Amino acid sequence: MQVKKVHSSLVETSAPGKVILLGEHAVVYGAPAIAGAISLRSTCAVARDRPGEGDLVLELADYNERLRLDPLIEERGEYESFKGVVQFLRTMQEQFELDFAGVTVSLQSELPRAMGLGSSASILTALAGGLDEFFHLGLDTAEINELVLQGETVYHASPSGIDNTLCVHGGMLYYERGEIYPLPVPDGVQLLVVKSGVPRRTSKMVERVRVFKGREPAAFSGILTSIVRLVEKAKTSIENDDVESLGRAMYDNHRLLKRWGVSHPRLDQIVEVCREGGALGAKLTGGGGGGCAIALCDEPARVNIQNALERLGIANFLVTIDHEGLLGGPVRNVG
Ligand code: PMV
Repeated sequence: MQVKKVHSSLVETSAPGKVILLGEHAVVYGAPAIAGAISLRSTCAVARDRPGEGDLVLELADYNERLRLDPLIEERGEYESFKGVVQFLRTMQEQFELDFAGVTVSLQSELPRAMGLGSSASILTALAGGLDEFFHLGLDTAEINELVLQGETVYHASPSGIDNTLCVHGGMLYYERGEIYPLPVPDGVQLLVVKSGVPRRTSKMVERVRVFKGREPAAFSGILTSIVRLVEKAKTSIENDDVESLGRAMYDNHRLLKRWGVSHPRLDQIVEVCREGGALGAKLTGGGGGGCAIALCDEPARVNIQNALERLGIANFLVTIDHEGLLGGPVRNVG
């Protein structure tokens, strides 16, 4: 269905995506992890712009879709592809008794989907912030964070909370069981995101690690302990601006994630291309099994790596750390 031109909005909010520098998957088991919010954002616009109409309309410009939130259509399972967002809207409606009549919610994201960059948490964070502002719910950051965490369970049953926390707070964070500790952004290095082009689901990868744990508990614990050590070491490296040591920890973390079975030959190839190009560190990021890899590099290495990736036809882009997290509020009174 054709999406109409963006209408005047009463509120507009946005939230960044994230990359995990170290500790994905281990973080699901309560281990610490280090992640940074990135400069790609999802945006949400909310307006009551269809007077006299009953249902909420959800515009998803990235999919060129315009969905009417009608219980009968939802029951038929027609919105399966957008289940996370639709369920989140329904949960918010029930919990806060929201009047959705004539409301239009427009969502858009600069983040590629299902690529380990936290697109779902970013979209839900922008949406939670948009509903909070529009309906004057007065939610604080912790409440929004918790709502998004609950919403994330649609995508995988046991989210660690790291994605939503980064999307809400922004910055570079050391994260452990919901507690955060801000870290400085390493100086003089660049962060390259490399797309494997292999689609995958985070839930499947989380399940793969769970199966590994059941099958080989001792090996699982050994890897978990090694990852915890790496994360602690990397935290100190970041605090001391020791990017060489941080990079080494990233390579080591990739090797350990590979042993848990969440890498992919394409990701391993990308890590090797980055190593050969002189990256300080490289590894898969997020759920793995495809999705994206990241590389930490200085300027000469960046040039080498991007040239090599281009020759292989592997898409990549630089990101910077976002320090703002969830942003936005009323933009224009169209009442
Ligand atoms: O693939 P993403 O962006 O959803 O990242 C998942 C990170 C995991 O550690 C694998 C899962 C989690 O809940 O932390």
